[in-house]
Amino acid sequence: MNESYWIESSEGKRFEKLNSDIKTDCLIVGGGMAGITCLYLLVSAGLEAVLIDADRTGYGCSGRNTGKITAQHGLVYYDIESQFDLERARQYYEINYKALELMETLIARYNIQCDFQRVAACVYTQDEGYADKIRQEYETYMKLELDCSLEKEIPIPIRVKNALVLNNQAQVNPKKYIDALAEEAVRQGGAIYEDTRIVDLQPGERCILKTGDKKTIDAGRVVIATHFPCYDGMGFYFARLKPLRTYAVMAKYVESFPECHFISAEEPTRSLRYVHEAGSLLIVGESHKVGHQNKDCYLELKKFGNEVFGIEDYQYQWSAQDYEPPRKIPYVGYLTKDTPNIYVATGFNKWGISGGTAAGMVISNMILNGSSPYEKLYSHSALKDIASSTFVTENADVTAQLVSGKLKSGDTELPESAGIGRVVNLGGKRCGYYKDEEGNEHILDITCTHMGCELKWNELEASWDCPCHGSRFDYKGNVLEGPACLPLNRHDEEKNRINPQIR
Ligand SMILES: Cc1cc2nc3c(=O)[nH]c(=O)nc-3n(C[C@H](O)[C@H](O)[C@H](O)COP(=O)(O)OP(=O)(O)OC[C@H]3O[C@@H](n4cnc5c(N)ncnc54)[C@H](O)[C@@H]3O)c2cc1C
Ligand code: FES
Repeated sequence: MNESYWIESSEGKRFEKLNSDIKTDCLIVGGGMAGITCLYLLVSAGLEAVLIDADRTGYGCSGRNTGKITAQHGLVYYDIESQFDLERARQYYEINYKALELMETLIARYNIQCDFQRVAACVYTQDEGYADKIRQEYETYMKLELDCSLEKEIPIPIRVKNALVLNNQAQVNPKKYIDALAEEAVRQGGAIYEDTRIVDLQPGERCILKTGDKKTIDAGRVVIATHFPCYDGMGFYFARLKPLRTYAVMAKYVESFPECHFISAEEPTRSLRYVHEAGSLLIVGESHKVGHQNKDCYLELKKFGNEVFGIEDYQYQWSAQDYEPPRKIPYVGYLTKDTPNIYVATGFNKWGISGGTAAGMVISNMILNGSSPYEKLYSHSALKDIASSTFVTENADVTAQLVSGKLKSGDTELPESAGIGRVVNLGGKRCGYYKDEEGNEHILDITCTHMGCELKWNELEASWDCPCHGSRFDYKGNVLEGPACLPLNRHDEEKNRINPQIR
């Protein structure tokens, strides 16, 4: 089925929609790992705080990942040491490991049943070209005095050139954890509203936010934890973050599996872990930029599972996306230097269980104590971000996408069968066409409501995806994720309203 096992395994408490105007000391927008951790830490310290989620808490990327809690984020430490210095690498490890310890403490304190286990983490390579990169990473680990080892073999049927094991990491059912922490935050005085999307933010001494249902929230401080920031404030996050979609398949697996999770250093990524509570193996990988899909990524993962572990039947498959920052370090702290009461947490590069928890710790510290010892770790030089190769390549792609969609004409024939999405030309206008299983036609203006790129049909997920900054819409035009806040109009209504939320 096309749903995350984690979401299936834990429905979570339903919170009501915001139905009136409210005023609060602190508003957190987004109920994922970053937002819920921040809410919990603020209310448990006695602050008044409210969390708003466009959908349901824990149903975003935090409920669709691999559930590894680790400070081993693929290969990052050598890069951080080279681009910054060893001290930054040390801080990066320290805050991510503290995040793991915080989660472990809360799980024990509130007796959260979330299949938490301490296991090792292993990054391996089968590619001679990466063997040296793993050795370099190991050398930085040694300088940081981490509990690790460099190996030539790993205890699963994959032949490797080099593997780096970091001991004492962990894994969890992330949805069960988030659901329990959300309930605990509410028990301690926090408020959560679901099905409430923020569509506008006016910064100021007090910030005024508007919801999609035209309710007003007056907040002294705002934490933007919407995965991709729903408000940019001239931070140019849309130009710095690369949206990557990644796939997961899960199958029953009765053979024994080592007390370790694994990830390949090279592409295509293969990330593996055992899910004890389900007696299953979870295989994750096949990333691509959103809107740039060119193969059946589920099939590739299933082929790998069959070749390596002899698995034939898969019970779950799902996909999710996360955002890659230009220089490996997420954006955590003030949204910009001119917004002392607006904070942001984004760019977790597929490591936001520890990274989002760390963000919640750092931002709550900044709010409660005025500063955090980790502010320097997360401080970014806009100039260096802009000079990075990711920035240059991504923004060249955005320019190409903005122009290319407008030059094509689109099919004039509508697809006859249900379940097929296509760009069609109706009366000289390019529109997105989809016929659902009941035979209803959905014809949309497919100009992205973020900054106007043309959307592409995603056959695997039946959604309209933006190749520029990763916004996604369902076939009815509702926003699924990404920076876009406004839905798509039907082709016979007025043109889509573009609102980049930059200022
Ligand atoms: C396939 C995959 C596997 C991964 N595996 C791991 C792993 O093993 N370990 C790890 O550490 N990390 C992993 N990650 C990364 C991790 O899951 C994410 O980095 C993390 O969950 C991000 O948390 P978040 O709180 O920022 O966002 P989310 O969990 O996406 O939460 C954001 C919330 O904001 C809400 N929202 C959005 N816009 C608005 C708006 N305008 N108004 C109100 N609410 C809004 C959404 O509804 C959502 O609930 C993985 C990522 C992927 C894609
Ligand atoms: S997400 Fe930016 S233009 Fe679509």
